[in-house]
Amino acid sequence: MANSDRHNTAVAHVYKGTFVHSTQQTALQILEDALLGVDTEGKIAFIAKGEELEKLTQTFGFTPSEVTQLAQHEFFMPGMIDTHIHASQYSYAGTALDMPLLEWLNTYTFPVESLFNDLEFARKVYNHIVKRTLRNGTTTACYFATIHTDASLLLGEIANKFGQRALVGKVCMDRNKFVEHYKESIQESQDETCRFIKELLNKKYPLVKPVVTPRFAPSCTGALLGQLGAIAKNNNLHIQSHISENVEEVKLVKELFPESESYTDVYHKYNLLTDKTVMAHGCHLSDKELDLFRQTGASLSHCPNSNFSLCSGILNVRNVLEHKVKLGLGTDVAGGYSASMLDAVRKTLDASKVLTIQDREHGTLTFEEVFRLATLGGSQALSLDDRTGNFKVGKDFDALRVNVAAPGGPIDLIQNDEPKILLEKFLNLGDDRNIVEVFVAGRKVVPFTE
Ligand code: GUN
Ligand code: FE
Repeated sequence: MANSDRHNTAVAHVYKGTFVHSTQQTALQILEDALLGVDTEGKIAFIAKGEELEKLTQTFGFTPSEVTQLAQHEFFMPGMIDTHIHASQYSYAGTALDMPLLEWLNTYTFPVESLFNDLEFARKVYNHIVKRTLRNGTTTACYFATIHTDASLLLGEIANKFGQRALVGKVCMDRNKFVEHYKESIQESQDETCRFIKELLNKKYPLVKPVVTPRFAPSCTGALLGQLGAIAKNNNLHIQSHISENVEEVKLVKELFPESESYTDVYHKYNLLTDKTVMAHGCHLSDKELDLFRQTGASLSHCPNSNFSLCSGILNVRNVLEHKVKLGLGTDVAGGYSASMLDAVRKTLDASKVLTIQDREHGTLTFEEVFRLATLGGSQALSLDDRTGNFKVGKDFDALRVNVAAPGGPIDLIQNDEPKILLEKFLNLGDDRNIVEVFVAGRKVVPFTE
C-alpha cells in the first residue's frame, strides 16, 4: 500500500503482543512485541515492530493508550479454516461411526438429512453448529447443507448473523438407490440450485457466499453434473464435492461412469474442476489424478478424523504437496466426530505418523506445516487467500486471541515457554477455553453477544 493511502486509513483497533502466522515461504512466522492495526472496514492496516509505535500513531491517528496489550501467555493467530463440514450432520456427531462410507450414508446420513424440510429442526441444528465452530476458532467454514433450498438459505442467514465467513452449499443429488425419498429430479436440482444461488446472493451478506454442491459422483447422473458445471461457470462460483474417499466408492464410480478414465476424470469431464473447486478426501487418487488437480487449480480438503472413523483410507498429504496441489483441512462432521479444527490438526499429524510407521522414509508433517494447512492452506484451497489466511496487510482481520494459560483451561504451563512452544502446546492440548476472543473481518464474534 502506498504511503499516501495509509494516511487516509483510520484504524479502529490496535493490538500489541505476539502474532503467529504462515506465509508461502515460512510455515511459521513468529512476530514478538508486534503491533497490528485494524481499519474501520475490518482489514489489517499495518503489522509492524513495537518500536515503531510513535511513527504509527502519527500515520494512523491513534494514541498509545488506545493500544490493547496482550498478556504474557497470549498470542494472536489467524482464524482456522474448515474446508469441509456437513452442518446438517451435526445432530449425530460423535455417534454412528461403525460402518464404512456407503453403508454409513444409507443407514445414518440420508435419513437424518431428509429431516431438513422441517425449518425449525434446521434452525436448531444450524444455530448449534455455527456457534460450536466459531467458539472453536473456525472463522471460515465451507458447509454442506442438505437438498432443501430454504433450510440451506437459513444456514447462510445464521452464519451471517453470528459473523462467520462461510461458503454454503445446497446439496444436489438426483440418484439415491437406498433412501428413495432423499433425492431430487434433475430439473428440480437445477432449478433449486439456481434459486438458492439467486436468493443467497440477493441477501448481500458480506461474508457468506453460495457454493455449487454435487454431493458426489455416485449421487448424481452425468447430466446433472454437466448442468452444475455450467451453473458454476456462468456465475463464477465455488464448487465442492467428495472424491476417492474409499475403495468401494471408487469401484462404484468406475461402474457408473465406465467411459471415464478415473474418478477425477468424471468431474473434469463435466467442468467441475476449477481453481474454485474443493474436493474432500482424495485418499485413493493416483499421481496422474493429482496432476489433473494441479493443472486445473482444484484443491483437496484433508479430513483425517473422518478417514479414520469410517476406515476410509489415509491421504498422503506429503505427496499431495509435492504435486503442488492446494490443500486445506476439514472436520467432515459427522463422518469426522469433532467439529473442532484443533482436532483436525491433531488427526492430520497422527495420520502422517501412521504413514511414517508404515514407511520410515515418509516425510512426516511438522506441526508448523499443519498449522499452515489449517490457516493459510485452507484459504488457498478455498481461493479466499486474497481475503484471509494470514496477517498480511490488506487482508481481513480473521483472528483468534489465544490464552495458553487460560484459568480453568486444559494446559498447565510449568516453565516460561517461548511463543513457538506456546503455539505447539495450544495446537496439541488446547481447546475452546484457550480461545478467548474470535474476530472475523475485524468484528469480535466470540464471546457471543446474544
Ligand atoms: N460422500 C458423499 N456424501 C458424503 C458425506 O455426507 N460424508 C462423507 N464423509 N462422504 C460423503
Ligand atoms: Fe463429507
